[in-house]
Amino acid sequence: MSGASRYRYLFSPLRIGPVVVRNRIVFSAHLTNFAEDGLPSQQHADYYAARAAGGVGLIITEEHSTHPTDWPYEKLIHGFHRAVIPGYRQMTAAAHAHDVPIFAQLNHNGGQASSMFSRLPVWAPSPVPDPMFREVPKAVERHEIAEIVAGYGTVAGHCAEGGFDGVELQCSHSSIVRGFLSPATNKRTDGYGGALQARARILLEIVDAVREAIGPGRALGVRICGDELIEGGSTLAEAVEVARMMEATGQVDYINTSIGVATATLFMIEASMSIPPGYALYIANAMRRAVRLPVIGVGRIKDPIQAERALAEGHCDLVGVVRGQIADPDFAAKARAGYATHIRTCLSCNQECVGRMGLNRWLGCIENPRTGREAVPLPPPRRPGRRVIVVGGGPAGLQAAATAAQRGHRVRLQERQPRTGGQVAVAATVPSRAEFLDVVRNLAAECQRFGVEVETGVAATAEWLRGQVPDAVVLATGARPQPPYWAGGHPRVVDVRDVLEGRAEPAGEVVVVDDLGFHQATSVAELLADRGCAVEIITAGMVVGQDLGITLDMETFNVRAHAKGIRQSTDLVVVGASGDDARVGGSGGVDLSLLHHPTGQPAQRHCDWVVCAVHQAPEDELWKQLQAAPFEVHRAGDCVTPRRAHAAVVEGHRVAVVL
Ligand SMILES: Cc1cc2nc3c(=O)[nH]c(=O)nc-3n(C[C@H](O)[C@H](O)[C@H](O)COP(=O)(O)O)c2cc1C
Ligand code: SF4
Repeated sequence: MSGASRYRYLFSPLRIGPVVVRNRIVFSAHLTNFAEDGLPSQQHADYYAARAAGGVGLIITEEHSTHPTDWPYEKLIHGFHRAVIPGYRQMTAAAHAHDVPIFAQLNHNGGQASSMFSRLPVWAPSPVPDPMFREVPKAVERHEIAEIVAGYGTVAGHCAEGGFDGVELQCSHSSIVRGFLSPATNKRTDGYGGALQARARILLEIVDAVREAIGPGRALGVRICGDELIEGGSTLAEAVEVARMMEATGQVDYINTSIGVATATLFMIEASMSIPPGYALYIANAMRRAVRLPVIGVGRIKDPIQAERALAEGHCDLVGVVRGQIADPDFAAKARAGYATHIRTCLSCNQECVGRMGLNRWLGCIENPRTGREAVPLPPPRRPGRRVIVVGGGPAGLQAAATAAQRGHRVRLQERQPRTGGQVAVAATVPSRAEFLDVVRNLAAECQRFGVEVETGVAATAEWLRGQVPDAVVLATGARPQPPYWAGGHPRVVDVRDVLEGRAEPAGEVVVVDDLGFHQATSVAELLADRGCAVEIITAGMVVGQDLGITLDMETFNVRAHAKGIRQSTDLVVVGASGDDARVGGSGGVDLSLLHHPTGQPAQRHCDWVVCAVHQAPEDELWKQLQAAPFEVHRAGDCVTPRRAHAAVVEGHRVAVVL
């Protein structure tokens, strides 16, 4: 039975206005930071080509700005310049080479922007400052509204010339149109504000202008936010009404959906693993019941079976699989061929996709070292069939082994623990982080498919490795906890890993010290709170778990932390742990000396246990012992220097391609 026949809906074609898609899987719009000086780049074309080759039904590109006042982030495509057209042709040709239609998303971000790049006032329906950009926008005058509408028409014309099969209007989570639609940001009294029909007037004008520019032969879609999740914002009932208005124009061919506002409730748009899969389908469902146009449902649709179910249950006509195809460009092809289990499923970790967007870097993926690097050629293997031994079965070792074996080498992997996964497997023992284990599962499955011989519970020694006379050894031996200088050997000052690996069982009052600003401290704090401990997290930073902001985990952590009574204290540096040691007759608790660094004032805490989320040390003994080995020795991941999981995966791959 072929994969396609297992899916009654997913691989059935669908007409979207004048365009027919061969299946229901949509690579919906997302920023990539691939643009160069406002123009689409070769990187765009290569990136979309890989997903088209991987069998997606429809590609919708990232947004193209419709007006010079819209420049909220550096690497935006400036669709209003005619100079974009050659790049558009490159992008569209790349998709068409695989018979995949490609639409362009058009947008003006309105007040959800800053004037930093444009040096022009930010435009919005009303002077309501955006909570993230904190700039008072200029309320657009009538002639400026006409200019905005005309701008959409101009860019739609460029898209038609550039070969796009359709355009989508982003009226959802970051858009001047959303700004007009939302009662929270539209305070106008001039016919463009007030009742919903008036707030939707600019959208209706844009639809007219765009349809005129693209003619009847191209598709036109509208992406609508189903619930802004902000005080006084648009509701699902209003959003459904907007969808009905779109259908009534007779000019719109499909509805795409979204949830949240990008500059206020972004954590719900690109939800991380703590939010259930398919969480926003209720929006598509409500729209689909109101209109006859095809509706796209989106949001943590992780695998083809779940996608099929969303279609079968009637929530939507098409499924947006964005991060799922950032992670695995062959998502559709693998499902169609009956190999759904070969898909590198997205973890919804947001570390390398959303996270890198926020840092103004090109889009990547923790699961896929080739994301964003599609056209960078890999060197051919120096000699196929080399004997490679990988030491360490964490993400670096697994990735190195999988890539080396895929490239034709004979690979043996040794892991000293009884299971592979390294610290990722440890981190994933915390319930809200369980999906993180997918990275290990995916890599371990690849190792198995490519014929890696995996041995667990075996500690490779330098002597043993020398005796094997391999062609190459890859060391991925990880890192070990390193007690902070101030711990003074106190037995109740332990590491996060001691807790998660079961070597320590803190109880009572626990202080968690967060030096790393990521999931380590917050995860262990939650776990201990769940076990009945009274937990306080202390950090020298301005906020606990600082980088959770980048991966959109901050808000959901704070909600859970509040519910669990976890206290958070900032700007505190730990300078000493002393006294109260059971070994010298004390209660066994810890006296912590702290410094409130902004004021220089000392502070203290007394607690039963201290759990440290602090920097580790590389496990590099084998590396040192193999310096004069008569074979190649490489290393990857934390044994080079401890970092986050993406570095391990990237490095494991990098090492394996030079073998
Ligand atoms: C890195 C990134 C950038 C995004 N940029 C856009 C965008 O420019 N326009 C848009 O409509 N949606 C954007 N989105 C939202 C996606 O279209 C989609 O709604 C969201 O990722 C949820 O789908 P998923 O769970 O399949 O990733 C972006 C998503 C990601 C991950
Ligand atoms: S970085 Fe994480 S969330 Fe983003 S696509 Fe990759 S696995 Fe998914």
